[in-house]
Amino acid sequence: MVLKAELHAHLEGTTSPDLVKRLAQRNSMDLPDGLFDAEGNYRWTTFLEFLKAYDLASAVIKTPLDYRDVAYEYLKQCASEGAIYVEVMSSPDHAAMAGMGYQDHLDGIIAGITDAERDFGIVGRIIVTCVRHLGPEQAVVVAKQTIAAPHPLVVGFGMGGDENAHHPSDFSKAFHIAHDAGLSCNVHAGEMAGPESIIAALDHLPVKRIGHCVRSIEDPNLVSRLIDENITLEVCPGSNIALGVYPEFGAHPFLKLRDAGCKVTLSSDDPPFFHTSIGNEYAIASREFNLNDQELADITKCSIENAFADQATIDKLLARL
Ligand code: ADE
Ligand code: ZN
Repeated sequence: MVLKAELHAHLEGTTSPDLVKRLAQRNSMDLPDGLFDAEGNYRWTTFLEFLKAYDLASAVIKTPLDYRDVAYEYLKQCASEGAIYVEVMSSPDHAAMAGMGYQDHLDGIIAGITDAERDFGIVGRIIVTCVRHLGPEQAVVVAKQTIAAPHPLVVGFGMGGDENAHHPSDFSKAFHIAHDAGLSCNVHAGEMAGPESIIAALDHLPVKRIGHCVRSIEDPNLVSRLIDENITLEVCPGSNIALGVYPEFGAHPFLKLRDAGCKVTLSSDDPPFFHTSIGNEYAIASREFNLNDQELADITKCSIENAFADQATIDKLLARL
């Protein structure tokens, strides 16, 4: 089996419908109205509906043990598909909406990652993310919480959410707080918005990696800039098709970006929402983009080389490839 690595997965968004049901029961909560369709899958159609479903599913993650179980079950599944390294993006804002403080949410995730490494040998790290549509001031709150509670497993700071809300420059303060404290940064751009969103992110935010970034293909100068500035692209093909960024894999720019010289990686984003997994993303790359096992292994190597983990961890992971 080709070894795999994942750089872009929203932790709350990895929670399977089955786990949502178990957590709701454990917390004596009713299942959120309208969250599931008749087949028991997450119900949403547009991007904004997806974000809403994500909020509803996150609401059942109410305790440190819940966060531990979400992280543990996700890493267990990734390990079963051959993943040796996963960075999960956690959202303290979603934890707060569920009634949990920053430290409780973090303690739970750390327990899940630690237990999963002990049981399955998979290495996990955390990127704390703010939510773009909650605004720049809340992003500063999250950045300050993050740097006030440093932990070796917390290696990054990033931002997801509605790409059309606010401007990247509005978040410069939050990102610089995190970056100045030694955290590596990523941001979503060029997913729901065009190349200008990526240019703005590069102009204003201290990022090494960009989540999605696929719409950079629409601007050849930007593709050159991504190469010159050594930016890693966290590409999530299954997510892009599910959310309608492209109508079909044949229209997806993964190969064009790779062949142009961009550093492309493969990730699953919010796997149960998009009926995917890290294993499925590699299968998509094989089936739809014709990557052979050596090319898939090269993707994993690129992911690990550009992981936000410390260099000693990266070296150990590279030695396993
Ligand atoms: N939050 C969770 N998944 C996301 C995505 N694909 N884009 C932006 N924000 C998100
Ligand atoms: Zn994402």
